[in-house]
Amino acid sequence: MSHKTENEMIRLTIDGQEVEIEAGLPIIAAAEKLGIKIPTMCYLKKISTTGACRVCLVEVEGVDAPVTACNTIAVDGIKVTTSTPELERQRHDMIRLMLVNHPLDCPVCDAAGECDLQDICFDHHILDQPFKAQDVAMPKIKDWPLIENVPARCILCEKCIKVGHELTGIGDFYVNEVGDKAYIDRNEGQNTIDPYIEGNAVAVCPVGAMISKPYRHKARCWALNKIPSLSFAGGSLEQVELNVKDAKLYRITSADDITINNGLLSFDSSFGYEFVNSTARLGVPLIDGEESD
Ligand code: FES
Repeated sequence: MSHKTENEMIRLTIDGQEVEIEAGLPIIAAAEKLGIKIPTMCYLKKISTTGACRVCLVEVEGVDAPVTACNTIAVDGIKVTTSTPELERQRHDMIRLMLVNHPLDCPVCDAAGECDLQDICFDHHILDQPFKAQDVAMPKIKDWPLIENVPARCILCEKCIKVGHELTGIGDFYVNEVGDKAYIDRNEGQNTIDPYIEGNAVAVCPVGAMISKPYRHKARCWALNKIPSLSFAGGSLEQVELNVKDAKLYRITSADDITINNGLLSFDSSFGYEFVNSTARLGVPLIDGEESD
């Protein structure tokens, strides 16, 4: 097993299949190239890895303990196994720990139907909860103008922090408190633009912790038709999806990897779209101040 420098290609084996990737990439990138899906909760390709959730555990031949696939750099010649009974047992426990005191408000949570925690519980048949802990979650933060923060639902993946710090530059969220009291908060007065306008924090939240107030309790995601479009935000040329039902625009989303903006949304796309639904807008063109036929 030899380490190689960046920009060289290395070969490794995952679940018995050989794959070649650029040196310096994590194991999860090699698995993705093979079409092998390693479960994740905190991994997001467009930001640096946090390594918080531990559900991406894999075994590497010759290494005593499982390693996290999201932030373990692949090296030439390693043999990786992504699923064994022991790995699944450990993954199940990680998921159950995330669920300790997670509120069972999925029926009214705006993330229901597109929540990574729901999906991972379903995929792994999490049907019981052997762990208990005193519930010390912070109450909802409701006084930010455009985002409602629900710490009890948060899994502390830090995606909302990193998308601002590393990509858009307008977020200034941080982890306040420690241990089971830790929650996402915002630095006040640090930036000229306050971070609570960072709609990308809502977009990358894997659960229902960061909720857009304009979208809150307006629609179920599965009832919305996603229509590919370009953003109307001044000159930003985002590739977006208009989330529409009954000719009404409910929100705007964008997908990572397949869009030129890599899923990032401008302020207008995140929060400034409601004028589209205004009944004061013209339905037909005006000619000399009169509606044309
Ligand atoms: S995805 Fe690897 S630790 Fe969360």
